[in-house]
Amino acid sequence: MLTVDLAAPAKPISPALFGVFFEDLNYAADGGLYAELIQNRSFEYNATEQANWGPTSFWEVVKTGEGDGHLSVANSRPVHVNNPHYVVLNVTKPRDGVGLANRGFDQIPLEAGKRYEASFWAYQAFMGIKWGEGDQSRPMPITVRLEGDDGSVLAEAKFTISGRAWTKHSATLTPTRSAKAARFVLFAHEQGGVALDMISLFPHDTFKGRANGLRRDLAQTIADLKPRFVRFPGGCLVHGAGVHAYYDWKHTVGPVEQRVEARNSWGYHQTMGLGYFEYFQFCEDMGAMAVPVVTAGVCCQHSGDSPGRGQEGLPMEEMPGYVQDVLDLIEWANGPADSKWGAVRAAAGHPEPFGLKYLGVGNEDAITPDFKERFAMINEVLKEKHPEITVIGTSGPFPDGEDFDLGWEFARELKLKMVDEHYYRSPDWFWENLERYDSYDRSGPAVYVGEYAAHESDRRNTLRTALAEAAFLTSLERNGDIVLLSSYAPLLARREHTQWHPDMIYFTATEVFPSLNHTVQRLFGENAGDSYVTTRFEGDPAAGARLAASTVRDSATGEIVLKIVNGEDTPQKIVTQFAGAAGLATSAQRIVFAGDNADLVNADGQPPVVQPKVEMVSVSPKFEYTAPANSFTIFRLRAQR
Ligand code: AHR
Repeated sequence: MLTVDLAAPAKPISPALFGVFFEDLNYAADGGLYAELIQNRSFEYNATEQANWGPTSFWEVVKTGEGDGHLSVANSRPVHVNNPHYVVLNVTKPRDGVGLANRGFDQIPLEAGKRYEASFWAYQAFMGIKWGEGDQSRPMPITVRLEGDDGSVLAEAKFTISGRAWTKHSATLTPTRSAKAARFVLFAHEQGGVALDMISLFPHDTFKGRANGLRRDLAQTIADLKPRFVRFPGGCLVHGAGVHAYYDWKHTVGPVEQRVEARNSWGYHQTMGLGYFEYFQFCEDMGAMAVPVVTAGVCCQHSGDSPGRGQEGLPMEEMPGYVQDVLDLIEWANGPADSKWGAVRAAAGHPEPFGLKYLGVGNEDAITPDFKERFAMINEVLKEKHPEITVIGTSGPFPDGEDFDLGWEFARELKLKMVDEHYYRSPDWFWENLERYDSYDRSGPAVYVGEYAAHESDRRNTLRTALAEAAFLTSLERNGDIVLLSSYAPLLARREHTQWHPDMIYFTATEVFPSLNHTVQRLFGENAGDSYVTTRFEGDPAAGARLAASTVRDSATGEIVLKIVNGEDTPQKIVTQFAGAAGLATSAQRIVFAGDNADLVNADGQPPVVQPKVEMVSVSPKFEYTAPANSFTIFRLRAQR
């Protein structure tokens, strides 16, 4: 018997329980959510990222009609000191044009009739021959062209470059035909040299139409989850590789050509085009809270190719400056438009404060004296100057063990309001830990389950993993008074550039493949509540069956939402009783997500192998429901106490 006790006092739970964690790994940002189509637009790729990378990676020199010339890399008068490298296109024989071309991240997909913004920064280095004759008063003619899969011209725009000042040029291109793998080419047509940087091709059609925005299809697949918050930018990413290589939010705001690009600790390049402003704006566009994470002044214990021994702290004399950066972040997010950092936000187009409430400090750190000293320093200042901000502490990479225990002990000592827990464990572990939070101390820090995922030994996104997570999420709803936030990890992964499995959403340049785990997350996001109604299994079905259930009340709609997960390979007959209902609807919306085989996995390009079925069904104060094998069922109905 499953009893939903409507007479028992409903327990308020976190309305923000279900969110997402965005980390730039697996090409989640550049080549992913960030809609830029040109790869290495700023010529900042380098060998620290991949041994065979350099400033001209992903660019090729194009010579037409026996034209000749070459590309050189320069750094003597950059477009901005933060963006040191650029190229000089030196045309010795122009003929039909000499230029440089880019094929994007694997491919540049174009849609006929859609608008794309082509832009670049340039100055005229010289005309004629570099060390010889040339009329420096003549401008350099340039063509920017989009070429189709067969080399045909789909759109082009003409420019003239004159003068020694770096200037931005742009034009809207509308391809006449679609192309799967287009080529972007910039040609120069006279003998001479032109300096080029920030060569960009950006679709106009971004999520919510934002400039410098996000790929619409991917952003929408995230928005479909109805996330109440977004944790970003990592994960391990926030540490960087080494104590001074941490992700510095200040490097990611302001005009894109002035941002400080960096090696991504997952072994590729971050343009920072998707920076703090874009993250916060995305959150706002989805109605989600922003939950940024900063380091605790130490780098990862695995830095410097030293697994477990690489943690180093910022020198103590640098800590006041670092703490000030954290304070500046809060001013940037929440300060008035006329404050120093609020003005930077306002200049980017958001004079109103963003309303930052949570700040993660640290990620899976080893809880050492170095860590504690620096964390405490940051926390002290935040507590004093920004008591309105909830500082989220960290408890190591695992759900138990030394760092977990020490992290919690330290959090209690500092009286933190919240601690971040992470676990990547087997589906069995999730089923075995449904009572994990039932006994957590309600007078201590609250919990943010910041990263979790059920991992098969072969790391596939099976229905088994999705159901184990669904079962676990029912336990988080039951404990939504102590677990206030949760987010699956990781979120995005580009095919052919995936470093970590499983992920929630896979994609290519043109397609998005949400996993079964995404469906479960979406169902929870769509069917969340703000109070918990006591729900318990009693007696049958057979003890030990993998069943989990929770009920929440959604005060916005006045409905209760009963969720039942059957992790067994066989159907389970469940007698459900709504006890103490003063008034109960006779029909309910029922959503059933079930597959006959727990090994099912979505296949790219195919419809989801398991899809939720929605129908109206009759219900009564006591009714029998046979939960299909491997299923997650939701009942939504009106019920008064
Ligand atoms: O989610 C992938 C990684 O897992 C995160 O970067 C890190 O926090 C965790 O170890």
